[in-house]
Amino acid sequence: MTRLKIAVLVSGRGSNLQALIDACADPAFPAEIAVVVSNNPEAQALARAAQAEIPAMICDHSYFRDDKAAFEDSLAAIIEQHGAQLVCLAGFMRLLGPVFLNRFKDRVINIHPSLLPAYKGLDTHARALAAGETTHGCTVHVVSPGMDEGSPIASRMVTILPDDTVETLAARVLAEEHVLYPEVVAEIARGNVVIRQGRVESAPALRHHEGTGSESHHGTSMTDHSHATSSDAHAAPIADAQSVARAHAMWASFTQGTLIAGGAIAILLVLMALALL
Ligand code: GRF
Repeated sequence: MTRLKIAVLVSGRGSNLQALIDACADPAFPAEIAVVVSNNPEAQALARAAQAEIPAMICDHSYFRDDKAAFEDSLAAIIEQHGAQLVCLAGFMRLLGPVFLNRFKDRVINIHPSLLPAYKGLDTHARALAAGETTHGCTVHVVSPGMDEGSPIASRMVTILPDDTVETLAARVLAEEHVLYPEVVAEIARGNVVIRQGRVESAPALRHHEGTGSESHHGTSMTDHSHATSSDAHAAPIADAQSVARAHAMWASFTQGTLIAGGAIAILLVLMALALL
């Protein structure tokens, strides 16, 4: 079986990355992670990739300052160099522009913690609670230049309970995200979900499942609703995450060694001073 190669773009915790890593660990899963890319050098997701021995790269947007085009060009080059056929955003906190999205036309998807088109953007759980909603959930959608605006591919619904807090609701939605994202990636890999011109065409059997993460219903609801390499000038912010981790470890042991040596010299000087008295 040829597995679909995916790139997973992350910025933080990486629990959705972990769900994809776990799914891909099954040889029968029709996709594999070719590369993990983080715009944040401190992302916990990088440790998850390292633990799973998956290639991980850092493409730090802050090095590019206002040059979004150069950042996205470098990001795209990493993805292409690793042969990824599908780009999965998983808590990736940068808005991708039309040039990048055209380069990976119909091949960029995202997971969002709401039942789109409701609650685009941030703080979705708090807003759903404040509005007195009875249902909430998560959606995987095609990425378009507008925030959380592309066509929904599939969603899972969660019933809001009377005593829900942002934390309890977020935890239940997140658990559904971890089921939904690998399911959608698998269906794309199998060709059961096809994205054309930003629109989603899914197999009839997948379209209208009941979807909820509550006690009453379970299921995923599928809805109908590529090259350049980074220039040398931009090579600096691109780094292999493992090399960065090694460099951090070396720096830590160097500073630790320096502290010990400094302490020893200070003690020696005090002893010499005492001997001279
Ligand atoms: C998830 O809630 C996802 O839906 C949203 O950002 C969060 C990322 O969480 N886009 P994690 O980094 O995957 O744990």
